[in-house]
Amino acid sequence: MANESQNWVVMVTAKTPTNIAVIKYWGKRDETLILPVNDSISVTLDPNHLCTTTTVAISPTFQQDRMWLNAKEISLTGGRFQSCLREIRSRACDVEDKKKGIKITKEDWSKLYLHIASYNNFPTAAGLASSAAGFACLVYALGKLMNVKEDESQLSAIARQGSGSACRSLYGGFVKWIMGKEENGSDSLAVQLADEKHWDDLVIVIAVVSSRQKETSSTSGMHETVETSLLLQHRAKEVVPKRILQMEEAIRNRDFASFSRLTCADSNQFHAVCLDTSPPIFYMNDTSHRIISIVEKWNRSEEAPQVAYTFDAGPNAVLIARDRKAAALLIQRLLYYFPPSSDDLNSYIIGDKSIAKDAGI
Ligand code: DP6
Repeated sequence: MANESQNWVVMVTAKTPTNIAVIKYWGKRDETLILPVNDSISVTLDPNHLCTTTTVAISPTFQQDRMWLNAKEISLTGGRFQSCLREIRSRACDVEDKKKGIKITKEDWSKLYLHIASYNNFPTAAGLASSAAGFACLVYALGKLMNVKEDESQLSAIARQGSGSACRSLYGGFVKWIMGKEENGSDSLAVQLADEKHWDDLVIVIAVVSSRQKETSSTSGMHETVETSLLLQHRAKEVVPKRILQMEEAIRNRDFASFSRLTCADSNQFHAVCLDTSPPIFYMNDTSHRIISIVEKWNRSEEAPQVAYTFDAGPNAVLIARDRKAAALLIQRLLYYFPPSSDDLNSYIIGDKSIAKDAGI
């Protein structure tokens, strides 16, 4: 560390949106490396609506690695944080700022401590994929700070070790997480199927049914499912491989009828698998079920489907409208069935599908 003073701080800030799976990841074949039992496909959201902003800083004055999430200090001892930090540190390269007289060599990175401040602009751990945006942003920001030369796909394999779904947030647009075959997980990574400009008619409306933290985390829920559900075996081996191919084709052809059929069916099967777990896991509630009925009834009354629904590990509805007109009608319907005076829905978040991955450094 050939530096004139020891009082410097180098920092990087990145912003990463969350992603919503339309073909779900549920179940791991390796819990430490976070290797899934099936491929999955997601849509990355507009970073202005649901995103994590993370600042990573390094300084010789820091005494230990520390992290704050939404202004509250959290522990960094968890294996997942440590895996991401270890993987990034092992790929760090020299950084030099001649003007400020700072030089950090490859070897220095493992001796220096980090301070990390992360902020989610949406409810954390309420089934809105906060860990996806969180780990993707952390890995991306650390990669920039430490001058890591890997491309997004390689970074996605590191983010995956923080939280599986995080690997898909390294890209905008439509993204596939390939489950991979290797035991060490080197080929379990994300690839972009189509960029953020592809199929930009789609509008995403998130109906926030509850912003409370979910009772069963995705991690423990999917562990129980792998242990006890026979339906999961059938889903992972027989159903998802075919759906992935059909979904890729639907996205390529901007075929909303197929896209919506597959998205709704996959969400429903994911929740069926949760029910098939012992003890059963209930992520959706009565309001979620009412939203499904409203959308199903509406789609059936039209010549072609107008809206797709999908629910992650929580009761909040992610509704994907075929275009702006359908989105406006959807909001009208939601307001009719859940007037502002009712307690069933908290708020709506309306966003375009997918924008860029790395909003700013
Ligand atoms: C229902 O990625 O949160 O949102 O890998 O254990 O951190 P871990 O789980 P996580 O699970 C996400 C599950 C899901 C479906 C999906 O995003 O594909």
